[in-house]
Amino acid sequence: MNEDWLICNKWRMAVNLPDEKPRRGGPFSAYRRSFISKHTLCREALFASIGPVRSAVELFGGLGCSSTLIRHYCKPETHVVHERDPGLCEHLRGLGLTVREGDVYDSIAKPVLARRALLDADFGDFTIHAWRKNKLMQLLWAWMFNRGHRHIVTTDIAEPHLHLHRARYGALLHNDCGDYPEYLDGMSRFFHELYGYSVARAEANYGSCSMLWLQQEPSRIRFSRTWAAYEGVALCST
Ligand SMILES: C[S@@+](CC[C@H](N)C(=O)[O-])C[C@H]1O[C@@H](n2cnc3c(N)ncnc32)[C@H](O)[C@@H]1O
Repeated sequence: MNEDWLICNKWRMAVNLPDEKPRRGGPFSAYRRSFISKHTLCREALFASIGPVRSAVELFGGLGCSSTLIRHYCKPETHVVHERDPGLCEHLRGLGLTVREGDVYDSIAKPVLARRALLDADFGDFTIHAWRKNKLMQLLWAWMFNRGHRHIVTTDIAEPHLHLHRARYGALLHNDCGDYPEYLDGMSRFFHELYGYSVARAEANYGSCSMLWLQQEPSRIRFSRTWAAYEGVALCST
């Protein structure tokens, strides 16, 4: 893949990666773009609302779309990105980022995660049920929330299957999960009890939701939604 992407219709980013096999019946790059585009679009409003910070760390660097937004909206003096895929690490280094190559779960309990103004954890697989089932994810979550980072941004993918799991999620969160904002409200209160952070703002795009966590009492979450597909990561025509 050798493409130029336009991040949120504003910033050009070169993506040079080895070609990969088609997935889900379409070219891999298109699938990947539509998937990452949602996260990117949701994150734009959050990073814009955070504004300049001194330091940032990302746990799941991927293709660097979030990194591009953080760089432009938050302008950190130090910006460290974790990623386990060697090809993506090379790409991220090419964007001028400081990359920690390897499995971020291996970093748990090591004192490598300094306190930062902004931590971004773009999980591709987080739901409250996945968290409950996965002890390693619980440890990682505790590791993230016990370091006093000022702003924490995470991703949740529960919405598409919420109608199948209302009772299960409701029981886990001790909160009605009649709709997605109720699920988010339950999650905000649940993790506030554990770590003292609650969700201040959430931006959803069908299938993906980005949340901004702050050290504060739970209050009404500012929730918005978009249905756009490729606007987060458009392909440059030239
Ligand atoms: C949802 S994508 C992140 C997208 C990213 N925010 C962007 O803007 O391109 C998740 C990324 O995390 C990486 N990843 C998944 N599990 C990981 C782990 N345990 N340690 C390090 N990286 C991981 C994957 O290789 C993938 O690139």
